Amino acid sequence: MGHILWLLLLLLWPVAARSESTCGSLELRQLADFHKLRNCSIVVGHVRIAHLQLPSDVNLAQLRSEITEISDYLMIYRCSGLLTLESIFPKLRLIRGRKQLFDQYALTVYENRNLRELGLLALLRIQDGYIRIESNPMLCFVQTVDWIYLLGNPATQHFSIKHNKSPNHCPVCGGLSADYSYRSNFTRHCWNTKAAQLRFEPPRTKDCPEKCGRNGCDAAGKCCEPSCITGCSIENCSLCGNYQRNGRCVEQCIASYELDKRLCISDRECRQLKLIPLTRGYRCVDHCPDNHKPVNDTHGLLQCQLECRGVFHVKRQADLEPLQDCVTLNGSLIIELVNIKEKIVSALEQTLGSIKEITGYLKVLHSAQLMSLTFLKNLDTIRGDQLIENKYALFVVNNYYMEHIWPANRQVAIQRGGICFHLNPRLCYEKILKLQPSLKSVRKISIADVSPNSNGERVICGDAVRTLDAQVEDINSTAVRIAVDFMKCEDMETLIGYSYHYMEAPQGNITMYDGRHGCGHDDWLMDVSPSRNRRHVISNLKPYTRYAYFVKTLTRTDYHMQVDAYSKILYFHTLASKPSPVSRLHGSSEHSTQIMVYWWPPRRPNGVISKYFVSFELHNLTKPEASNKNYSTFKACNSCDLDCVCNDLVAYDSGPQPEDESYYNKEQITYEDALPNLIYVSRKMKMKKEKFNKVKDFEDLIAGPKPVAAVESTSTIAPETALADNSSLASASNFSAIAEEASKNYELYRQFMEERMRQVQDTGIADFLISHPLPKCNDANASVSYQLEQKCIIAEEPKGASVPGTQNSYKLTNLQPDQYYRISVRACVDGVINGCSNPAEMILKTISVQVEQFMNGQ
Ligand SMILES: *[C@@H]1O[C@H](CO)[C@@H](O)[C@H](O)[C@H]1NC(C)=O
Ligand SMILES: *[C@@H]1O[C@H](CO)[C@@H](O)[C@H](O)[C@H]1NC(C)=O
Ligand SMILES: *[C@@H]1O[C@H](CO)[C@@H](O)[C@H](O)[C@H]1NC(C)=O
Ligand SMILES: *[C@@H]1O[C@H](CO)[C@@H](O)[C@H](O)[C@H]1NC(C)=O
Ligand SMILES: *[C@@H]1O[C@H](CO)[C@@H](O)[C@H](O)[C@H]1NC(C)=O
Ligand SMILES: *[C@@H]1O[C@H](CO)[C@@H](O)[C@H](O)[C@H]1NC(C)=O
Ligand SMILES: *[C@@H]1O[C@H](CO)[C@@H](O)[C@H](O)[C@H]1NC(C)=O
Ligand SMILES: *[C@@H]1O[C@H](CO)[C@@H](O)[C@H](O)[C@H]1NC(C)=O
Ligand SMILES: *[C@@H]1O[C@H](CO)[C@@H](O)[C@H](O)[C@H]1NC(C)=O
Ligand SMILES: *[C@@H]1O[C@H](CO)[C@@H](O)[C@H](O)[C@H]1NC(C)=O
Ligand SMILES: *[C@@H]1O[C@H](CO)[C@@H](O)[C@H](O)[C@H]1NC(C)=O
Repeated sequence: MGHILWLLLLLLWPVAARSESTCGSLELRQLADFHKLRNCSIVVGHVRIAHLQLPSDVNLAQLRSEITEISDYLMIYRCSGLLTLESIFPKLRLIRGRKQLFDQYALTVYENRNLRELGLLALLRIQDGYIRIESNPMLCFVQTVDWIYLLGNPATQHFSIKHNKSPNHCPVCGGLSADYSYRSNFTRHCWNTKAAQLRFEPPRTKDCPEKCGRNGCDAAGKCCEPSCITGCSIENCSLCGNYQRNGRCVEQCIASYELDKRLCISDRECRQLKLIPLTRGYRCVDHCPDNHKPVNDTHGLLQCQLECRGVFHVKRQADLEPLQDCVTLNGSLIIELVNIKEKIVSALEQTLGSIKEITGYLKVLHSAQLMSLTFLKNLDTIRGDQLIENKYALFVVNNYYMEHIWPANRQVAIQRGGICFHLNPRLCYEKILKLQPSLKSVRKISIADVSPNSNGERVICGDAVRTLDAQVEDINSTAVRIAVDFMKCEDMETLIGYSYHYMEAPQGNITMYDGRHGCGHDDWLMDVSPSRNRRHVISNLKPYTRYAYFVKTLTRTDYHMQVDAYSKILYFHTLASKPSPVSRLHGSSEHSTQIMVYWWPPRRPNGVISKYFVSFELHNLTKPEASNKNYSTFKACNSCDLDCVCNDLVAYDSGPQPEDESYYNKEQITYEDALPNLIYVSRKMKMKKEKFNKVKDFEDLIAGPKPVAAVESTSTIAPETALADNSSLASASNFSAIAEEASKNYELYRQFMEERMRQVQDTGIADFLISHPLPKCNDANASVSYQLEQKCIIAEEPKGASVPGTQNSYKLTNLQPDQYYRISVRACVDGVINGCSNPAEMILKTISVQVEQFMNGQ
């Protein structure tokens, strides 16, 4: 028993305080950089080791660091001569992953030519973020690490391990040979031949409540808390995955200040460390951030006071940083978004949304991305203490896509100075004139300052803008049919068609100007329907998703009376449908009669996952059908029988699969382009390209098809025919009769045209059908012909054990030792007939009785 290395390590590190030396992010590119590691045990930031070339005679002591924790991420990229990370990080216990490389990776080991093993012997936890270990041709001992054990949040973290040295050509845990009789130290998981993977051993593993799972429980039978890495209870914990407060593990700092991304301390403790408690973000900091100034309060204590003073010139996203949290901007704001490719509108909304007052002026120019100033959603005063050209407090010039000024129902008082609006071709003059009442010191807006000729000339302005009524007529999980009300006959003359705008709106209300970036960059997707039919089907929607939509008419702009109509913003929710298969299936057998199966929820649940079904069957290897399939990896595992870690049967990879839409973007763009240059590219900024492609420029459409000519020519005929002959009029003495006749005729004609126009607008729903799944047959055993005849389907009953949708694991029991099993898992959505995913399958083997005995040290 004694020689079994089920190690547990409880290095009790002293709690708190800055006695442990902390340091910021480290970039190591050459040997000389390694002195930076010397004094550092806790890295508040990341560690990147890249393009390092170690000479073969390097003194390993020179590399050694005392680092025990990294708050953000660790990246090892293109290092040569580096054989193991053990020489650099012998004490690294925790990577928190608070900020991640490319917004997702907490541990990245990529393209290192000589790396043979990771050797992170002390590592106990990667609390957040993904793991990616790829393209290291010599790297062994990757599959021997129990990565699941290292994950702090296994439900949300992925790991991807590929293109390293094939495990078949690698040594195994405890020895060079797979034959266990030569191995005196048997371990399941290790970092190299000598070092078993450390894991905290709970006080009890046997007879714990079922729900404790692999975490085990304490002597009293209470489940161990995973947030304490080195102990079972969250009280008196020496190392917490998230934050620690007074020796206790907590998820977040509540009513306290965050120190070094790992501790929560009180105001007083922060002062004792000679640091400043900062109310913004509740952090304990050593100096005030950029837009805060240090002031001594009445007790002589240094405080950071938010100070937003000066002229802020916002050209790109980075310029927004000093404006964070400003409420009163003591000075002026200039917005000039020069880079039309940068998607900045949501950042403007977030940062400038808190501003209530600007004491100087507001100047917005050359910003083609802005469709409105609604991102200043709380602004109520522009004081005008400083003015542009001694005249203007609000200066809005040359904004090609600006259509709208302030948020609805908000007047911004301009205390002093006037306004200047020019070259905003889509901003209606009338909308600018509506600012008049908010000008406190200027009697009348003058033409020189606001010209009707240089504002709004590109769009339809005026009160003629009418509202359109739209409603959802039918919906399934991926498509919706929308119908607008009939247009009046006279409005049909200018009508070309409709545009349907829609975007995902998971919650809350949305305005037409939200997420609009001008220049055709737009979070709203748009379908253009150049037809006067009042129905339209929007397809390719995501199942079980709430969308916002509005409809707008497309009218001929050369017509002199332009009337454009918009609908209000309305919402629909697509229906649920069958989910995608569970995304990662893996398992292990630790008893000869049991297999523990784990999986992750489907990538596209398409509804609420109510149940999983787990089924298994004995897999007879010699069955003829089995030989058709490619079990080459399977056989490889057969030869290393006693390792029994046959979960490598499925690719050892839990990362995104190619079917994932954003997969290629992430792979190609983020990884290949950005990594070599170490340029930080936010995944979020590379936003869904397909969106842009879908938005068509409908100017062309407007210029293109003309309305049916007949409408124009016939519209004037009616009165003429009715009053065609004034000879009959003259001869008849009863004028009122004739007038009545005429009006009757006209009414008839009008009705006729109206009817015709209705027919043009409504061709029935046949062309716009939304298909629905067939209903369930009454007879559960209905024959195929019955099903066809009755247009129904039989609901299949999924096989296997049913597991609640909240649970992602299942223990198969009463199995036979040393046998292969085919195990499949399906995810099922509520309220959908046959709403279970295709099965995800794997083949796993139960361990033999001998191995079980061996592992139990018998
Ligand atoms: C390391 O810490 C010691 C004592 O805290 C200090 O004297 C020394 O200057 C530090 N060295 C570096 C490189 O920061
Ligand atoms: C087995 O492990 C023990 C304790 O860790 C160690 O002393 C011994 O040298 C190991 N034996 C071999 C053959 O590696
Ligand atoms: C925590 O440690 C203190 C002192 O070591 C002890 O008095 C207390 O009972 C411990 N609390 C728990 C929950 O273990
Ligand atoms: C705060 O007070 C200290 C000591 O009284 C002084 O040295 C420091 O300059 C003061 N700082 C500010 C910002 O007033
Ligand atoms: C604005 O800054 C000036 C100095 O530049 C200062 O005199 C004034 O009090 C400040 N106003 C506000 C409201 O903070
Ligand atoms: C959304 O709008 C509706 C009606 O205009 C209103 O009743 C509701 O409170 C709004 N919801 C939110 C979250 O703003
Ligand atoms: C497996 O297949 C072989 C050959 O077809 C057969 O003899 C054997 O009985 C099968 N075993 C099981 C468990 O089905
Ligand atoms: C089986 O897989 C191996 C390696 O993946 C491949 O080389 C071989 O061509 C495959 N055989 C068949 C029949 O698919
Ligand atoms: C018909 O009416 C028009 C004007 O109302 C008049 O000029 C014309 O002479 C009339 N024709 C006859 C035949 O009365
Ligand atoms: C004129 O028409 C009105 C209404 O149709 C009718 O009441 C009236 O009797 C008519 N007068 C003559 C003289 O036909
Ligand atoms: C929803 O209806 C559309 C239009 O008929 C159809 O193309 C689509 O396949 C349907 N979706 C599903 C999941 O049946």
